[in-house]
Amino acid sequence: MLLQPRATMPNNTSKHFSKPIDCDKIAAAALPSGKIYHFKRLDSTNSWLQKNGQCGDICISNEQTAGRGRRGNQWVSPATGNIYFSLKWCFDTPNYPMEHFSLLGLTVGIAVAEALADIGLQDHGVKWPNDIYWQQQKMGGILIENTSPSNNVIIGIGLNINMPENEARKIDQNITCLSEALAHKNTLKQASRTELVISMIQCLNTRLTDFPALDFNDFKRDWNKWDILKNKPVNFQHQNSQISATVVGLNEQGQLGLKNSDNQLQFYSSADIRLSKPL
Ligand code: BTN
Repeated sequence: MLLQPRATMPNNTSKHFSKPIDCDKIAAAALPSGKIYHFKRLDSTNSWLQKNGQCGDICISNEQTAGRGRRGNQWVSPATGNIYFSLKWCFDTPNYPMEHFSLLGLTVGIAVAEALADIGLQDHGVKWPNDIYWQQQKMGGILIENTSPSNNVIIGIGLNINMPENEARKIDQNITCLSEALAHKNTLKQASRTELVISMIQCLNTRLTDFPALDFNDFKRDWNKWDILKNKPVNFQHQNSQISATVVGLNEQGQLGLKNSDNQLQFYSSADIRLSKPL
């Protein structure tokens, strides 16, 4: 089943975002450690790093034939100028797994939102747990997978940059892409995918390096900046029933706090509930 969202995509694609990704420039500007591998086509950049990646390696592909999303969903990954990016990160810390490990996906979401802001995007944010949204539509997603040894993770990021109508039709949610954001509101700097990837690597590197010593109050402050659901009414599915509630925030495990119509507050992990779009 495909669970990326659907939208009406612009037929025009942005010229500067359709320039090829320049991995030499990325390596010179942003690689803290590891190597960068760029493919025309792969099954999945996450799968490639699972098999071949060393700590700090980055894998990018122009197209994925078996792109994977959360909950076992397919990630539609045509060669139309989107970003399919994975990083293998190794936590070198004695207290692994850290108590706050469940905040990792949310932290990566913050890093991606910051990178998009760096290239001039506005009106975007993170939809809990880690979908990237622009004006109520999904623009990207994050898939974090464990790998062995267990202090290593593969962080996969898919960002819709150019998603033509015929590809968007394969997806059954409201999606958007960076080119559409650009067509609506020209706040983006003359950035390219190369610059966006550089910015993403820099933001990820800072957040991941700091992650073992994460302070929850600092995390909450940053999360609140990007959280698109804060104080919003939502519908969600829990154990086969549909519930309406209001989002009140996160706890230290990264679970979402929801207050129902009887004013009862309950925290849910992302494995327990499936959120519909904001009411
Ligand atoms: C989601 O379901 O929202 C997460 C989507 C993650 C997609 C990215 S694209 C790069 C990396 N390789 C994959 O196969 N998946 C992730």
